[in-house]
Amino acid sequence: MNDSSLTDSNSGSAGWEESYAVHQSEESLWGDQAIPILDSSIEILRRNLIETVVDVGCGDGRNLFGLRSAGFSCAGVDISPTALVRAASMLGARGRRAFFLEGSLTSMPFAAGTVEAITCFDVFGQVADPGCAVREFGRVLMPGGIIIMNAFATDDGTYGEGDKVGEHIFHYKGTTFRYFGEPELRDLFDIGWNVLKFERMEWDDPPHGEFRPYPHRHVNYFIVARSTPA
Ligand SMILES: C[S@@+](CC[C@H](N)C(=O)[O-])C[C@H]1O[C@@H](n2cnc3c(N)ncnc32)[C@H](O)[C@@H]1O
Repeated sequence: MNDSSLTDSNSGSAGWEESYAVHQSEESLWGDQAIPILDSSIEILRRNLIETVVDVGCGDGRNLFGLRSAGFSCAGVDISPTALVRAASMLGARGRRAFFLEGSLTSMPFAAGTVEAITCFDVFGQVADPGCAVREFGRVLMPGGIIIMNAFATDDGTYGEGDKVGEHIFHYKGTTFRYFGEPELRDLFDIGWNVLKFERMEWDDPPHGEFRPYPHRHVNYFIVARSTPA
């Protein structure tokens, strides 16, 4: 599934940094509401007695705020330092605290086997090699740890925006968007994972500042998987 035209260095970090840098509003670039699957994610985390969560690709913190407010201890990881500063400031202004670490989905700043749960929302299609991201989830998670994530489907409303650079992959405003079919996503979690949930979901997103300045519909796969190392 790796696409040779993409590498981690051209897969969009500059575009993300720029998008946060030009966003003047105090509000999250992604809207004031958390992602629509956050409530179900919190229920799943509680049911599994999770206490600590790493939100990778946390952006400017809208979901971290919800996770902290639900009582979890949290760390936010993102490739964009500006996003992390914005997230820390937004949470702080609302009386919440978390740890913030610069890092990538494919190289997380955690020792192997130390993370209880990972959330990864609206980020999974942005790496050159999604298989590498899934292996990294498996590396950092404790045995039995949980990943909760979504990935955009090939019939997502934003599919086709930007320049096509590979099969189902587009460069849009200096960032990368990859869209997935169900079989390839399922394949990624075939070995070393117990898939607890795999659900197709749709929702409408509001305009995102200058980045995507119009309402759009997302068609997603919502995935929850438990790491089961051999
Ligand atoms: C669409 S935003 C979503 C932000 C947040 N998860 C939310 O739902 O509000 C995508 C985020 O992923 C981050 N990102 C992109 N590639 C990444 C990577 N390889 N590792 C970690 N974060 C990444 C971007 O900087 C950006 O903050």
